[in-house]
Amino acid sequence: MNKNLELIKKAENKHDLYRDEIIELLKDGYCNEELFKAADRVRKEYVGDEVHLRGLIEFSNICKRNCMYCGLRRSNKNVKRYRLTPDEIIDLAKKAVGYGYKTVVMQSGEDEYYTVEKLKYIITNIKKMDIAITLSIGEKTMEEYKAYKEAGADRYLIRIETTDKKLYEDMDPGMSYEDRKRCLKALGSLGYEVGTGCLVGLPGQSIESLADDILFFKEIGADMIGLGPFIPNEDTPLAKEKGGDFNMSLKVMAIIRLLMPDTNIPATTAMETINKNGRIIALQSGANVVMPNITEGEYRKLYALYPGKICTGDTPDHCRGCITEKIKSIGRTVSESKGFRIHRCS
Ligand code: SAM
Ligand code: SF4
Ligand code: FES
Repeated sequence: MNKNLELIKKAENKHDLYRDEIIELLKDGYCNEELFKAADRVRKEYVGDEVHLRGLIEFSNICKRNCMYCGLRRSNKNVKRYRLTPDEIIDLAKKAVGYGYKTVVMQSGEDEYYTVEKLKYIITNIKKMDIAITLSIGEKTMEEYKAYKEAGADRYLIRIETTDKKLYEDMDPGMSYEDRKRCLKALGSLGYEVGTGCLVGLPGQSIESLADDILFFKEIGADMIGLGPFIPNEDTPLAKEKGGDFNMSLKVMAIIRLLMPDTNIPATTAMETINKNGRIIALQSGANVVMPNITEGEYRKLYALYPGKICTGDTPDHCRGCITEKIKSIGRTVSESKGFRIHRCS
C-alpha cells in the first residue's frame, strides 16, 4: 500500500501522527480524496450526522489592532465603521432564537466601547433566552474573561492564527505570540469551551508550521478549531499576496479531525468564499458546525475582513433556510441541541 495511505489509516485508527507524518500528508498530492473520506468517517463515528448551527452576530467593525491581513485593521480608512448598541445586539439574539438557533456567536473587532459593564448587560440578557453564547472579541485580561464567564458566556473563540512566532508577530504588529497563548490558557482555566484555529496560506507560512499548528491544537485540547484560507484584502498591506489554497485548508481541517475526533470543527465562511460549495465540501471532509450570519442590513457588507465574503446581500432568514436545505441535501440534519463538545476520547 502507498505509504501515505498507510499514514491515513494509522491516523484514522490511532488518532495520532508524528510531525513528519503530518508534513508528508500535507505535501502529498495523490491521497487527498482518501484523506477527506477518512475524516468524514471519523466525523460520523465520533460526532455523528448532526450539524450544529451557530448564529453569527458581527456587532462592531471598529478595531484597535492592525493585523496585516484584516480589512478591519485600524489603519484601513476605506471602511465605514459601525457598532451596534447593547440593546440592538440583544435584539438580534432574540431574532436568532426565532430562527431556531441554540447558540449565538458575538464577534467584533477589539472595540473598547464595549466595557465589562456593557458586555455583562448583553450576556445576562441573552442568557435569559436559554441559548449558548460564544464570544469572539479578541485579547482581554483574565479579569475581563472571568467577568464574561460569570455573566454566562459559554465559549470563546480566539485563533492562534499561526504557531510560527515570528510570522505571528510580523502579521499582527504590536501583538505578542506569548500574549495570544496566555489568552488561550486563561480561557481554558476559567472553564470556557475554547475555540482556536489558524489561517492557511499566510505569506511566508511553511507546511512545517501548519503541521505545528495542528499539533498545537491537539496539545491544548481545543474544543473548537476553525480555520480557513487567508484571503488578500486590497485595503491591507497584503493586497498583492497570493492567498491560501482551498485544498490545503481542507487537508489541514481533515487531519485535525483525524487527530481530534470529538472536537467541533466549523465549515468556515472563508472556505465558501473561495469555493462556491466550500462549506458542504468541508462538512463532507470532517466538519460538523456552520456559523450562518445573522447580522442585518448593510453591516454584513461593512464587516469586511476580506473581499467576496458570502451572504452579504442576504437576510438572516434566507441564510437559515439556505443552509438548512444544503445540510439536508447531503443527508445530514440540523442539531436541536446547544452543541457542546462531548468528550468521547481521552
Ligand atoms: N477581533 C477578533 C480576533 O481577531 O480574534 C475577532 C474577529 S476577527 C475578524 C476573526 C478572524 O477573522 C481572525 O481570527 C482571522 O483569522 C480572520 N480573518 C481576518 N482577516 C482575514 C482574511 N483576510 N482572510 C481570512 N480570514 C481573515
Ligand atoms: Fe482586529 Fe481581529 Fe481584524 Fe485583527 S483580525 S484587525 S484583532 S478584527
Ligand atoms: Fe447565506 Fe446561503 S447561507 S445565502
